[in-house]
Amino acid sequence: MDLKPLAEQAKIEIDQIQGLDALDSVSRKYLGKNGLIGVQFSQIKDLSPEEKGRAGQELNSVKILIEEAIKEKTEQLKKTELDKKESQAIDITIPAEEARTGHLHPLTLERRRIEHIFSLMGFEIVEGPELEDEWHNFDALNMPADHPSRDALSIGKTFYLQNGGLVRTQASPVQIRYMEAHKPPFRIIVPARVYRAESTDASHEVQFHQVEGLMVGKDVSTANFKAIFEKFLQEFFGEEMKIRLRPSYFPFTEPSFEIDINCNICGGKGCPACKHSGWVEFTGAGMVHPNVLRNGGIDPKEWQGFAFGASLDRLTMMRHKITDIRLFHGGDPRFLKQF
Ligand code: PHE
Repeated sequence: MDLKPLAEQAKIEIDQIQGLDALDSVSRKYLGKNGLIGVQFSQIKDLSPEEKGRAGQELNSVKILIEEAIKEKTEQLKKTELDKKESQAIDITIPAEEARTGHLHPLTLERRRIEHIFSLMGFEIVEGPELEDEWHNFDALNMPADHPSRDALSIGKTFYLQNGGLVRTQASPVQIRYMEAHKPPFRIIVPARVYRAESTDASHEVQFHQVEGLMVGKDVSTANFKAIFEKFLQEFFGEEMKIRLRPSYFPFTEPSFEIDINCNICGGKGCPACKHSGWVEFTGAGMVHPNVLRNGGIDPKEWQGFAFGASLDRLTMMRHKITDIRLFHGGDPRFLKQF
């Protein structure tokens, strides 16, 4: 009985096997009940007595050889399968990537603070359209077509629409719209995005934002304005701010004044932001012109009030010491994530 070829064949087959299922069928082929080894055992009874002993021993050792080869192969296959699983698994010890969340724009955050401060002083927050007509943006504000102030305050800087309308150059048209629809007394605050055809630089943008205030009552005065505005500044900047009122001119207010505020970038010493004067021009304001009240349907003999128009962009820049207005719309995340 020559068992050598059988042993060798089994070894080659086992070597080539790639999976545990295939290994199982090879195992059955050799060692199973009717397997090749079993068949050999059943032939032993036909041999002579002395051959029987030797053949039995040989067969046994081949059987053991195959069993061991299968056992070894089983372990090897199990290990590669485990390795594969491990390499696909998630390593929970790797530090997670930082979750990046968006947040509100600095101009939105400051606008909300301003709205909050004024609403605590009884002001209603009012909005109006960005696309306007000449009546609301100019004429009703006492800026007739031939008035030189119209030039100075916007006309060369106005984006006109093909239908004769325009993109508002100031928040003031909302004053008129509000007066048309409401009876005094009232106090409103108007946050508004406005547009002017400017050449852009560190302090000018084509698109910026104003916060306009209007308070109308029987005896509203400049003193009321000054008190309310100083209170606002104190709340907004978290410290008392020095202001000065300079006589000025706006067609929609009489008298008109310009409010300067102590430059908080240099603390009043003088720097490029305040053109080395220690003061920054801050807000236009004044007592509402009788013509404007009349155009809004309000009797100027009975009512009077003040109005002011501040730049939200400038307020935000001053509070956060930002020196270039263009950063607001630059979209640079390194700038935005500071707020
Ligand atoms: N509308 C003016 C501007 O855009 C600001 C202003 C508003 C001035 C109200 C006085 C009163 O410059």
